[in-house]
Amino acid sequence: MLYRPLGATGLTVSEIGFGCASWWGKPAFAERSALGLVHAALDLGVTLFDTGASYSGGEAEPRLGRALKGRDVSRLVIASKAGTYAAGRGRVGRDFSAAAVRASAERSLKTLGLESLPLLQLHGPMRSELNDELLGALAELKARGLIRAAGVNSFDPAVIDHAIGLTGIDAVMIDYNVLRPERAPLIARAAAAGKGVLAGMPLAMGHTGLKVAKIRGIQDLWYAARGLVRHRGEVRAGARFGFLHRLGGMTGSQAALAYVLANAGVSAAVIGTTRLAHLREDLAASGMALPAQVARRIEAAQTGSA
Ligand SMILES: NC(=O)c1ccc[n+]([C@@H]2O[C@H](COP(=O)([O-])OP(=O)(O)OC[C@H]3O[C@@H](n4cnc5c(N)ncnc54)[C@H](OP(=O)(O)O)[C@@H]3O)[C@@H](O)[C@H]2O)c1
Repeated sequence: MLYRPLGATGLTVSEIGFGCASWWGKPAFAERSALGLVHAALDLGVTLFDTGASYSGGEAEPRLGRALKGRDVSRLVIASKAGTYAAGRGRVGRDFSAAAVRASAERSLKTLGLESLPLLQLHGPMRSELNDELLGALAELKARGLIRAAGVNSFDPAVIDHAIGLTGIDAVMIDYNVLRPERAPLIARAAAAGKGVLAGMPLAMGHTGLKVAKIRGIQDLWYAARGLVRHRGEVRAGARFGFLHRLGGMTGSQAALAYVLANAGVSAAVIGTTRLAHLREDLAASGMALPAQVARRIEAAQTGSA
């Protein structure tokens, strides 16, 4: 596993992080398997674990806490999120008031069993919500030693662009993958400003391989439903990248990760998986170079000239 600096935070992260979200955090996914994935990731050198207070109906963060119990967390970068909360029946509530974010950070520390959270990210704030009061609360959490760094997670380029200019924001998490080459200038600006950049959904949620058509377990039904209900654009666009899965020398997921990690502005790609074999395959992508002819084919598929 290779490691990269998280911007100017002074923190170092494994260039592939493990996302504790979605199906991984759901009670329907066996606790033993979920914890086993975190432990395998630790054994394979992963030091970055990303979760959120509202992930998996509020179940992901405490599950990560249980996975980390008794482990040496001193060199880990545990990242969580505030500003959203599980509001019951699968709904996610929002509250970006300074008081709510402060209380959420304090709850996350208890849930995760940590004295200090290496990275607290605001989970999808609007630009107007990134006000002085909220930034003051983040500064206060840092001053109290409750968080080490603060970030903004958004898939809205205008919000990220604004966040890059904010002094108290140390890192951003955006959606960057073969389907999102347009994020590259934003990543360059963030890196130039000394911000850490986490690439969320680096495998395009698995949609490069027409995942919706491959049902082998209950999680695949859930992924397929999520894709068809909320991410039809990605499913359609992903169909152009089926060639990634027929390369030889590297798997489609490894090629997708090599593409993301070829961007020097990216601090880490944060993957999600529920399968040990996938985890091993994905982590083996660290240090893999993207062959020039594959990069050209990706570009052709991105511009529609393939
Ligand atoms: N998605 C979002 O809206 C979002 C938002 C904010 C932050 N994030 C962060 O980004 C992380 C990753 O996001 P994500 O899980 O949505 O997207 P992702 O990592 O791009 O893709 C995950 C999908 O890829 C599949 N996959 C993983 N490795 C594979 C392999 N080697 N071969 C075939 N399929 C493979 C997984 O299925 P299996 O379980 O079968 O491996 C899953 O369906 C999250 O955990 C979170 O920390 C995501």
